[in-house]
Amino acid sequence: MTQNEYNKAIDRLNLYAHHYYVLDDPITTDEVYDKLYHEVLEFEKRNPKYLRVDSPTQRVGGIVADGFKKEKHLSRMWSLEDIFDFQQLKKWVEKSSKLCENMTLYCEPKYDGASLNLIYKDGVLIKAITRGDGSIGEDITQNAKTIRSIPLKIEHKELIEIRGEVVIFKDEFEAINEQRIEHGEQLFANARNAAAGSLRQLDSSITASRNLVFLPYGIGENSLTQDSLTERMEYIYSFGFRPAPMRLTCKIESEKDVLQIEDFYQEMIDKREYFDMMLDGMVIKIDSIESQDEMGYTVKNPRWAVAYKFPAVEKITKIKDIIMQVGRSGVITPVAIVEPTHIEGVVVERATLHNFDEIQRKDIRIGDSVIILRSGDVIPKIVKVLVHERDGTQKSIKRVTNCPVCDSELLDEGALIKCQNLKCEARVVNSIIYFASKPCLNIDGLGEKIVETLYSEGLVKSVKDLFFLTLQQLMALEGFKEKKSRNLLDAIENAKGCECWRFINSLSIEHIGEVASKALCDKFALHVSDVTKEQLIEIDGFGEEMAESLLEFIRVNRESIAELQEILKPKAPELKKEAEENPFKSKTVVLTGSMSEPRGKIKTVLENLGAKVSSSVSKKSDYVIYGEDAGSKFDKALSLGVTTITEEQMREMLR
Ligand code: IVH
Repeated sequence: MTQNEYNKAIDRLNLYAHHYYVLDDPITTDEVYDKLYHEVLEFEKRNPKYLRVDSPTQRVGGIVADGFKKEKHLSRMWSLEDIFDFQQLKKWVEKSSKLCENMTLYCEPKYDGASLNLIYKDGVLIKAITRGDGSIGEDITQNAKTIRSIPLKIEHKELIEIRGEVVIFKDEFEAINEQRIEHGEQLFANARNAAAGSLRQLDSSITASRNLVFLPYGIGENSLTQDSLTERMEYIYSFGFRPAPMRLTCKIESEKDVLQIEDFYQEMIDKREYFDMMLDGMVIKIDSIESQDEMGYTVKNPRWAVAYKFPAVEKITKIKDIIMQVGRSGVITPVAIVEPTHIEGVVVERATLHNFDEIQRKDIRIGDSVIILRSGDVIPKIVKVLVHERDGTQKSIKRVTNCPVCDSELLDEGALIKCQNLKCEARVVNSIIYFASKPCLNIDGLGEKIVETLYSEGLVKSVKDLFFLTLQQLMALEGFKEKKSRNLLDAIENAKGCECWRFINSLSIEHIGEVASKALCDKFALHVSDVTKEQLIEIDGFGEEMAESLLEFIRVNRESIAELQEILKPKAPELKKEAEENPFKSKTVVLTGSMSEPRGKIKTVLENLGAKVSSSVSKKSDYVIYGEDAGSKFDKALSLGVTTITEEQMREMLR
């Protein structure tokens, strides 16, 4: 093989693969492909200097010995707000059209898998990062390269982030689970877990064997010039990515047009079962990139997109038993154990009953046939009892009066029944499990089983005790050899110096989750224990209930919070400095028209100066800063008497 022939062979192999993995339309046989592949491999062995980055041989990775490295996304990965019915769709469209002139919507399926961010530089795939918390994920580049629908090279030289979902096709998912049964391994609960698990394999040959598929749905950092998402996505597909199997671009001019969106959604539901991948809804996005920039984001979601979820799937099953779970806050949750039932590729064995009032209202009895419903990720629930199926053997259950775990008398508040014993084993164990879990201190190896053992052996009675465990103590436990014991002690030690919000989140304060913990630490750093109600209410998204819950928790637990803080020594985040005096500080400004730089950039500059950048003009606006072709916002500013300045004047004011 000459170098010229080598180059041709690579192009040919990539063409074969594109037809096979992206177009679902093979143009050769495995035999022909394999033969050429081996010739290429031979050539590369002899001539390593001619190796091409997009050679299919580069898709075989190695083993990552020390786990994955954390890696920052160039721009944040967001999640979506959900809607569930036509009424909510109409409301969303109405609200959005107020923020967006001449609205056009782009619709495509919502894939059920694991999100992945691909970074291409100079046309070459340089990084693949899992979503993680949206800002930082894990670098799984080696594994991503084994996914054949991810091009290793694209015809686009500027830096670009391409986001998409990694999925496992339904038949592949079933095959993997069958294989796992044969090997006595634990089954994947659903295709999403299977996809996510396969992406995070330390040995990339396992990832390669799972036949994952990448479906692009968006773009992060980029320097694209196309004005609409439709055009941008077509451009991305032209690089060789797999296009969305159904998509629609639809101008919304009257209420009737919303019906078109609804029809498209219904059509997608009808076709849902025939698609290879699992879908859990339809994503609707504002098509104009300029409008997207103007509408911006809430704490969690873009305002310019929404997930219209598919209705849940219902099945009939039988209740075998009803058990009581005691959560970390002491709330007792009745749970129905049901005959294992397949729903959309998931085996359901439990259904939540929420609380006793619900059991009484629905008159749910052990032995009843019931309709259960599973929608997306949530735990299935019981929607209806099939009373006509009863044969007299069904047993009602009584309201519990004593804790099923510690036997102490329960506080019955109607909807909620609570165990108030702070020392109740279930409460303590569950709060330690939560303390060690991912969104908290993320202590590797400290799962449910181990926490239960540590508790029952009397080694750990509170989270604090974790930090005083010794090697001898652990090694005396069954199944704990030296290595495992040392690893656990190291993992616990590593929790020290954690980010401050993890510490707050780990305390199990009712109504205070991850987002609230982050907001608290951003504002008060390590002084959360000294806040007042007034200060709390001022935080965006904080309501009365959250503030009161936090203050009550601090009142009761001040000492143990301080002790734990002393042990953990969490890192204080850098507090946002108050901006220095400048003409835009504390002013509300609106940007409109095209400017010399992307408006998002100018927005950040202004926000750092302490300005509030709003997307719509009102009497409260202080300035409307306009670029070329400014339209109705500029006119509105004039009619309301709001000061208008050009981009140049803005820069002048800052000099
Ligand atoms: S758009 C800023 N489009 O759903 C827009 N997401 O809840 C953010 N997903 O994390 C996402 N299919 O992993 C978008 N067609 C689609 C999607 C999609 C699946 C996932 C994605 C994201 C999550 C959002």
